[in-house]
Amino acid sequence: MGNDKILILDDEQIVVDAITKNLSRRNYEIYSGKDGKEGLALYHEVNPILIILDLRMPVMDGVEFLRKINLSPSDSCSVIVLTGHGSDEEMERCFELGISAFLRKPFNIYELLGIVSHSIALKKVEKELRSYRDHLEELVEKRTIELQATNDMLQKEIVERTNAEVLATRSLRDKEVLLREIHHRVKNNLQIVSSLLDLQTKYIKDPETLDMFKDSQNRLKTMALLHEKLYQSDNMAEIDFAKYLTNLLDHLYRSYCIDTSCILMTTDIDKATIGLDTAVPCGLIVNELVSNSLKHAFKGQQGGQLNVHLHKLDDGRFKLTVSDTGVGLPDGIDLKNSKTLGLRLVNALVIEQLEGTLEFDTNNGTSFWIVFRELKYTTRGTKDGR
Ligand SMILES: Nc1ncnc2c1ncn2[C@@H]1O[C@H](COP(=O)(O)OP(=O)(O)OP(=O)(O)O)[C@@H](O)[C@H]1O
Ligand SMILES: [Mg+2]
Repeated sequence: MGNDKILILDDEQIVVDAITKNLSRRNYEIYSGKDGKEGLALYHEVNPILIILDLRMPVMDGVEFLRKINLSPSDSCSVIVLTGHGSDEEMERCFELGISAFLRKPFNIYELLGIVSHSIALKKVEKELRSYRDHLEELVEKRTIELQATNDMLQKEIVERTNAEVLATRSLRDKEVLLREIHHRVKNNLQIVSSLLDLQTKYIKDPETLDMFKDSQNRLKTMALLHEKLYQSDNMAEIDFAKYLTNLLDHLYRSYCIDTSCILMTTDIDKATIGLDTAVPCGLIVNELVSNSLKHAFKGQQGGQLNVHLHKLDDGRFKLTVSDTGVGLPDGIDLKNSKTLGLRLVNALVIEQLEGTLEFDTNNGTSFWIVFRELKYTTRGTKDGR
């Protein structure tokens, strides 16, 4: 950056010299002219930061000069008038034309120097502020453009994510429909197998064989009912177990043509939702134990009571109780090595499938207590229930 340029316009050479001498010492770059016309040419050529202007000059006076340069507050140049004859009206006129100071001759050179350095400092601050403001606007504009671009990108991402979400939801819904359809078909197929067995029983005369067919049909029904409950459930992974057991018991009563006024059934089943892996063995166990009570317990008796309870224990396990007030189990029964399938199946389902415990009591009828925990599968085929 070069030195600050000052233009002195005065027809008195002695004044010009005096000022030039003092200003040059302070590292200003001095230009001078003896009238307004010369001044105008220099003003455009040099582009000074400050003009020291006499009013009375030949060819073009100071006021005319001021009119021509038409100062505005945003100009990078300020003007100090230095005159020997200026009236108050002229002073007012000059201020109207944008000058920043008015000094009368004879003047004190130090006073002038002070005003010069003050005016130049002020112009520089103004210029700096102006450039800062311009820069700020530029910065704001740049930042706005950047923000707009980020915003556009975010909007695009939102649209993409929404589309992906719609697709995922649609695909999930399709899979749900498919799963519901599969459970429905499994249930129907089990029913078809059951109907086939039913058709075959028409050719069977032996009551024992007929019983075996009926038992098998009930086992199929127990599982079909589960799939029915699954496709009716909200999430298709768990079923309302209380509802399922109630339906199963109803079916068994009807299947063995039990007179409900003779054999009274009480149920006390806690509300619980159970997954398919636990519900299948559990349903089969109830089927076997309740079938046994209905088939064997009340033989030769006027009537009695059958109780089915399922309670959720504080530690999260379930306790299933099936008891009757019938004749009780035959002496020396061994569930594990029974020759018949029913109780052997119950034992295997409790111990091997549910990994639970089984106890029974055969005084005052028959009571079975089974304690188990719901099986959880974290991944397909990996048991992680306890
Ligand atoms: N609640 C009960 N009351 C009285 N006797 C019972 C009871 N449960 C089972 N029994 C007796 O125990 C035997 C074994 O029962 P189990 O269920 O294993 O066979 P099942 O009912 O005869 O035939 P299936 O294999 O079709 O079930 C029965 O034949 C019956 O004599
Ligand atoms: Mg049985």
